[in-house]
Amino acid sequence: MLARTFVRLVSPSLQVSYFHRIAMLTTDTSATQSDKKPSQTMTKQNLLELILDDHKEIRAFCKQVQSTEPKESIKWLHQLTWEVARHSVAEELILYPLMEKELGDEGRRMADSSRYDHQRTKEDLQFLENATTLEDPEYMSRYVRMADELLEHLDKEERDDIAHVRKFVSEELLMEAAKDFKRTKHFVPTRPHPEMSQKPLFETPYSLIVTPIDKLRDMFRSFPDHDKVEEVEARATGHK
Ligand SMILES: [Fe+2]
Repeated sequence: MLARTFVRLVSPSLQVSYFHRIAMLTTDTSATQSDKKPSQTMTKQNLLELILDDHKEIRAFCKQVQSTEPKESIKWLHQLTWEVARHSVAEELILYPLMEKELGDEGRRMADSSRYDHQRTKEDLQFLENATTLEDPEYMSRYVRMADELLEHLDKEERDDIAHVRKFVSEELLMEAAKDFKRTKHFVPTRPHPEMSQKPLFETPYSLIVTPIDKLRDMFRSFPDHDKVEEVEARATGHK
């Protein structure tokens, strides 16, 4: 139903681009063979593997927004927004500084380009904050443009940023960075953590999106090491 509304409301050129991207999502293009380890869930993942997993989730959520009934699609938009907010903050705190440090001028250029893409997505998501249904033409066309650019950004990031980092950054550094990347999940707890109050740090994804990155960096540094947190959680719950 949402797809029919979409066809009615969105310009033909954007329709072609968006539907092409959504159709492509049935094919998993997000990881190279070397990223797909059979027991990946059981082994520790490096930074790039974590990012590629996030990208898979974001693509899947975009597909859900487009393919479900209007009542459900708005819920999937909220889910997508949380994931994009948390993921983009993690990339801005961990991946881009690492690219700038390890890849020189080329790393800086790619990081700046990705930051620009993120900024556009954040502005679109802020605009969509007030949407109660995507059947509204204004919200629908903004969502479609945002999703189209977001999917293109993910492809570009995998083709350029991640490919370069894989080539030039050591596995040891990527494993170290993975710990920090996982630690950013504390910004949006999905369940209570022993070291935190019951209240999430950010009530809405938009509050996370609009918080300056410098402030987030300070908060990020105030958390305990992620491995330590997992250890405490495992001890508390009896789960590994
Ligand atoms: Fe990104």
